Amino acid sequence: MKTLILAGGLGTRLRPLSCTRPKLLFPIANRPIIDLILERLGACGVKEVVLAVNFLADVLEQTCGKSKYGMQLHYSRDKLLDSERTYSPEKALGTGGPVKQAEELLGRDAPFFVLNGDILTDADYLEILNAHKNNNSIATIALRRVADPSRYGTVEITKENRIRKFVEKPIRGAPSNLINAGVYVFEPDIFNFIPTGKRCSIEKDVFPNLATEGLLFGHEITDLWVDIGKPADLIEANRLWLEAHEEAARHFVDTKVDRNVEIKSKVSIGNGVAIGCGSVIGPNVSLGKSVHVGEGVHIKDSIVFPSTYISDLATIEGAIIGEFVRLGKKARIRRGCLIGDNVKIKSHVSLSQNVKVCPSKIISKSVPSSECIM
Ligand code: GDD
Ligand code: MG
Repeated sequence: MKTLILAGGLGTRLRPLSCTRPKLLFPIANRPIIDLILERLGACGVKEVVLAVNFLADVLEQTCGKSKYGMQLHYSRDKLLDSERTYSPEKALGTGGPVKQAEELLGRDAPFFVLNGDILTDADYLEILNAHKNNNSIATIALRRVADPSRYGTVEITKENRIRKFVEKPIRGAPSNLINAGVYVFEPDIFNFIPTGKRCSIEKDVFPNLATEGLLFGHEITDLWVDIGKPADLIEANRLWLEAHEEAARHFVDTKVDRNVEIKSKVSIGNGVAIGCGSVIGPNVSLGKSVHVGEGVHIKDSIVFPSTYISDLATIEGAIIGEFVRLGKKARIRRGCLIGDNVKIKSHVSLSQNVKVCPSKIISKSVPSSECIM
């Protein structure tokens, strides 16, 4: 069984951290998201994976290489045909175009999986495949029940799981609270529904047509599922993953955690992390490798990337902190803040909620309202 992972989005809502690293390399419990996805696919018997890449393709390719978890990895870069029908390599193909572009790699002899690359799930892919085999259809999509369907693809479905209507991000009234979970099984005939070399949205240009023709089915999943689009989603994904995976919350090697540190479960502590006396870490914290945490620091609901230095008495809550950041004494970082790599935040500086700081900035004064510091 082959799998295509859509991995070429710009990750705009995770800027500035997504300017230099693709979303798939963001860490959850100290492991890049791509590793968590690949490991699960491998366990479900997948042998070959095509990564449909575009933005920051080289970074992903260099990091992941040609094989992982016993699977062969291929990279398919978006190529858009312009009006002269020559390739414009810088352009994005959307969520459908990359599937058509990978036709040769995926082949026409068997069904295959397609995954949105920004979904973290414990779904059993084989169960979705089995459901697909029972439907006489071109596509089966995993569906998940959510409280607010408006930011997702939504469906109207029959008792037999045939999708009657597919509406991407409905402006008014979703047909149900079952949403497209971004995990699909496609028959090779799907290639007949996608144009070559053109930008195409699988959700807007393909699924509604398949639904009208009665060729689209759904299969509800109830497992852990989260879309990592926004900073708060990434933090929530970290929490859910730590809760669901006992081994993810283990402490790694060479850590120096003072006896008087309070760890509030669940927390992931990377290799070589040091934490000083009187600090309170957790719940829901991941500290990347070689992070230094001083004394009397409070961190909760946050992800700290590797090699960051947090001075005494600093507070971080609900934030994502990049690599090689330096937080001064008593610095305060609030919910929704995103701190770029190599930023320096001076002592006593306090950031209000949702402040974004671009890489390598030096912040010497408190920031009282949410803004992006460029
Ligand atoms: N190669 C490539 N090229 N990949 C792309 C492109 C592109 O031009 N555009 C988006 N992708 C990838 C993204 O990286 C992401 O992994 C996936 O396609 C989905 O795109 P998003 O931009 O994240 O879509 P969304 O989150 O707004 O909505 C999608 O996901 C929801 C579930 O989380 C839709 O599939 C919804 O229907 C669905 O409910
Ligand atoms: Mg998304």
